[in-house]
Amino acid sequence: MVELGVGTGRIAIPVALAGAHVIGIDSSAGMLAVCAQRAREAGVEERLELRLGDLRRPPVDERVPLVTCPFRSFLHLRDDTERLEALGAACELLRPGGRLVFDVFTPSRDDIEETHGRWIEREPGIDERADWDVTAQTLTLSVRGPQGASTMTLWWVEPERWHSLLAEAGFEVLATYGWFDRRPFAGGEDSVWVVSRK
Ligand SMILES: C[S@@+](CC[C@H](N)C(=O)[O-])C[C@H]1O[C@@H](n2cnc3c(N)ncnc32)[C@H](O)[C@@H]1O
Repeated sequence: MVELGVGTGRIAIPVALAGAHVIGIDSSAGMLAVCAQRAREAGVEERLELRLGDLRRPPVDERVPLVTCPFRSFLHLRDDTERLEALGAACELLRPGGRLVFDVFTPSRDDIEETHGRWIEREPGIDERADWDVTAQTLTLSVRGPQGASTMTLWWVEPERWHSLLAEAGFEVLATYGWFDRRPFAGGEDSVWVVSRK
């Protein structure tokens, strides 16, 4: 299987520990370095193959039965052109009948009103601030803690938009869940998508 945006291996390492062979793609050499170290510590470096690259053009020639993109990594894509590039590339990686599984979020009005422009302690000593732009549909997320500070921007779209992008990229939607426990999607902020190559 392939995980797009593998990060530090939070998901990929337990998946490799469960016996799967994972090709992990990430555009950050720093994230991959942490992931490689953790994979060694967990004893799964043989089953977790890390490749530096962009998820819109993943450096993968293999064809696999499963592609995942967990923890909202598709929200790093800034417009429909980039979303379609990424979805099209994921579709190419799949064997016929293979599946793409990913999660994204669409903020609620309440969430935006409660958090906009405020520093909130998310974990002891680690503060997070969300600056929402509802017109541009962007979230600028800032984090500060004892090890430093960082800011990144995420771009969201509504579930209906994901539906049409998926259809355009050649996918059939098998299920849309509202969370990882497979509760049905009921219009909440989070959506988990299971789609197959048509
Ligand atoms: C929210 S993290 C998710 C990490 C991991 N999947 C997890 O669940 O813990 C998003 C990851 O996507 C990576 N990323 C962002 N844009 C990317 C791109 N265009 N191509 C490849 N990786 C990208 C980031 O470097 C980061 O490691």
